[in-house]
Amino acid sequence: MKLGRLELATPFILSPLESVSDAAFRRLCWSLGAGLTWTEMIRARGIVRNNKSTLELIDCFDADVPTGLQLMVVNETEIAAALDAIERLAHSSHPHFQNLVAVDLNFGCPSPEVIKVGAGPALLKRRNKLEAIFQVLRGWKDRTTLPIGAVTAKIRLGLNRAEMDQKVYLPIVELANQYLDGLTVHARHAREESTTPAHWEAIAEVKRAARVPIIGNGDVTSVEAAQRLLRETGCDAVMVARGAIRSPWLFRELTGKGAGQPTLSELDEAEARWMERATALGSKPKFFEWHTEGFRRMRARLTGKPVAGPSMPQTDHMR
Ligand SMILES: Cc1cc2nc3c(=O)[nH]c(=O)nc-3n(C[C@H](O)[C@H](O)[C@H](O)COP(=O)(O)O)c2cc1C
Repeated sequence: MKLGRLELATPFILSPLESVSDAAFRRLCWSLGAGLTWTEMIRARGIVRNNKSTLELIDCFDADVPTGLQLMVVNETEIAAALDAIERLAHSSHPHFQNLVAVDLNFGCPSPEVIKVGAGPALLKRRNKLEAIFQVLRGWKDRTTLPIGAVTAKIRLGLNRAEMDQKVYLPIVELANQYLDGLTVHARHAREESTTPAHWEAIAEVKRAARVPIIGNGDVTSVEAAQRLLRETGCDAVMVARGAIRSPWLFRELTGKGAGQPTLSELDEAEARWMERATALGSKPKFFEWHTEGFRRMRARLTGKPVAGPSMPQTDHMR
């Protein structure tokens, strides 16, 4: 599948995942069949301010694994400054930034802290502001010396029910046609819990209006669900979040290469590799916290033991 200039080996994409999608987890998902992977959402403001812990989250050391950077931006000035900083750093102190192949903008994070500053889903209905932001991204893509093959946005259907009913997402498709290489639709509004079934019919509506590839997202936790999403909406690719957290081997099953669950020895091997890489690449403690618990749960499920003990760590994106 083609996304801008990127040729994806498979149409199954690992979501940007806060506290989860570090370089070591992205490699695991890619080795199992993910065609593209994303960093977690990174605040553009932190990049502009040269904030060390923000910059450390752009962990694209692994040149084999197609990785895009997801940014959270407030306005066009901020994104322009952040993109220029990335380029400068890529040619000076952070050469691994040169491995980035795509940039995505987040318009879906339901965190009150994000919405309060007018970012994320608060921007969905602001057509002019969005256009200004997309213009900057497009202009940067056209002149950057980094190998950026695609620029995209990931949207929800609105900030709330009223915006979803007004279909604020449809004008964004027009902008995407003009400025972007693809659009991911997480088919919920930002006040909806992840337990509310995703509104796939909106993905179909977006697809009908789109001239760029549409990536459908929401509730794909099995091969059947992925096939149904592709068939019912006509979307071009599928983005997977919770299904991949539960079992990265879902990518193996989606790509027809094997079972969706690992054997115990595959799990042991994957955990050891994840630990080795995350340690070598300096993943932040939150990723260790998440994956230690994640692997423990996968093992409990495989061995038929009850998944007892502490719950998964929480992130801003979870409801
Ligand atoms: C732990 C966790 C972290 C997330 N972090 C991000 C993020 O950084 N950026 C983003 O756009 N979405 C984030 N999301 C939302 C997912 O990318 C995805 O849109 C949502 O979970 C719906 O897909 P699913 O039904 O496959 O889980 C996160 C979701 C979870 C569960």
